[in-house]
Amino acid sequence: MNNHPPNFNTLFRPGTLSVQPYSPGKPIEEVQRELGLEDIIKLASNEDPEGPRPEVIAAIQQAALEINRYPDGSCYTLTQKLAHHLGVEPESILLGNGSNELLNMIVRALISPGENMVFARPSFVVYDLAASLHFECGRPVPLDEQDRHDLVAMAAAVDEKTKLMMICNPNNPTGTYCSAQAVKTLLDSVPRRVIVVLDEAYFEYAFAEDYPDGLQFLAHYPNVVVARTFSKIHALAGVRVGYAVGHPDLIKQFQKTREPFNVNTLAQAGAIAALALPDAVAQRARRNRTEGKWLAEALLGLGFSVVPSQANFLFARHALPAGELCARLLKLGVIIRPMSAFGLGDGAVRITIGLPEENRRCIAALEEILGH
Ligand SMILES: Cc1ncc(COP(=O)(O)O)c(C=O)c1O
Repeated sequence: MNNHPPNFNTLFRPGTLSVQPYSPGKPIEEVQRELGLEDIIKLASNEDPEGPRPEVIAAIQQAALEINRYPDGSCYTLTQKLAHHLGVEPESILLGNGSNELLNMIVRALISPGENMVFARPSFVVYDLAASLHFECGRPVPLDEQDRHDLVAMAAAVDEKTKLMMICNPNNPTGTYCSAQAVKTLLDSVPRRVIVVLDEAYFEYAFAEDYPDGLQFLAHYPNVVVARTFSKIHALAGVRVGYAVGHPDLIKQFQKTREPFNVNTLAQAGAIAALALPDAVAQRARRNRTEGKWLAEALLGLGFSVVPSQANFLFARHALPAGELCARLLKLGVIIRPMSAFGLGDGAVRITIGLPEENRRCIAALEEILGH
């Protein structure tokens, strides 16, 4: 018997073979192992740099005593609290293992072969990934010259086969945003049969006066779904919980596509506790804004061009190739993200806005590299 493996590649759908796997920011432990460095800071995955408040940790610890049991599959308490917090009906809420899972669920629930999804590029890479894995349904539209969504071009890309549009607001990786008026104009120009997802993972960090709360559109545009997360400003990326809000008739269908128990016990407990601490959110948003301003100015001083950001990260370009810049920073114990994974040319990096001391250390390392 020939026990050579067959050519497994012939078994897979072309969409699977063509996927570029999601490449996350390097974990701190990996860099410690590879470079033998002790003292490392990670400014690469847009996490909030502060740990959760003690009340949240205590709630998770308490919940840990029950993890021999399955979680509450309906997420009853979290749904009720979130509905109250957002001023929406519980039936409008869908919970996921991070908003990442929700985005995938929405794509899979809606799109049949031959249909398409419009999104910006570069934007959150998961849209590209979800599209590749699902009938190669992606219809990417380039950002405009100022690294913003080109909503006019996105509306023009809609055809009779378009089921879904993703708008990342603020956009990851550029930090740019779409104003309330721009979103409204877009919603007025796409047919109601196109579901428009407003991905607001960084909602709480945004401070521009004309940045919209996506929930305001739900009353007039039943085709809007707002996706948010506890991973960023609520500092719960490690337990994975996100939510989507939309018309109950839509949410009812999406609910069917959830894996049983998709939101784990610790995530539910952490999210419930985090919702009770609005002052933590306000404080982190303030810190992020102050530090973002400092970091942007320091980067400008080092010869970077920096895109104005409404999120907890900065998108910056430098004449030095990004791969080299990031590798040299890594040797100094600072992890940032080269933008090649987002299909961007060399020179572009994304830096998460950290704690004051982390931002200063990042700039000091860059000064060393750039000879300032
Ligand atoms: C724009 C955007 N949407 C969604 C997510 C997914 O977040 P999570 O799955 O942690 O909720 C991220 C994470 O980086 C993001 O940047």
